Amino acid sequence: MIAIGCDHGGFELKQEVMEHLKSRSIEYKDFGTYTNESCDYPVYAKKVAEAVLSKECELGILICGTGIGISIAANKIKGIRAALCHDCFSAEATKSHNDANILAMGARVVGAGHALKIVDTFLDTPFSNDERHIRRINLIED
Ligand code: RB5
Repeated sequence: MIAIGCDHGGFELKQEVMEHLKSRSIEYKDFGTYTNESCDYPVYAKKVAEAVLSKECELGILICGTGIGISIAANKIKGIRAALCHDCFSAEATKSHNDANILAMGARVVGAGHALKIVDTFLDTPFSNDERHIRRINLIED
């Protein structure tokens, strides 16, 4: 189960990502926002982060205008490793090396076609489980 959330800046891209997940038969839970009316991105960062931390959802996707505010907010929550990715190389590396548990994107930065490839790369790349990466992640958590 994937937790997904956005602010007004990410609303339209969130709809596209959800359609895409549906087409891949990947289950998701939409934590809002549910309209393109102006709202506050930390609210949605928190909802998605809590769903991931409680293990209700295994991974999260967060979208705002730039992806910056919503990833900063998510990364304030202990246990969250939110990676802001606007290319597939970063999406693959952050899953493999950082075991990122949330993908963040900026809808005003990346087009929908590219964003969906980034989502696929993030979801389809496993964590390497390499000792050096585990050690570094544990150092972040300390
Ligand atoms: C909203 O206008 C915008 O500030 C927000 O979506 C995001 O880009 C913040 O980092």
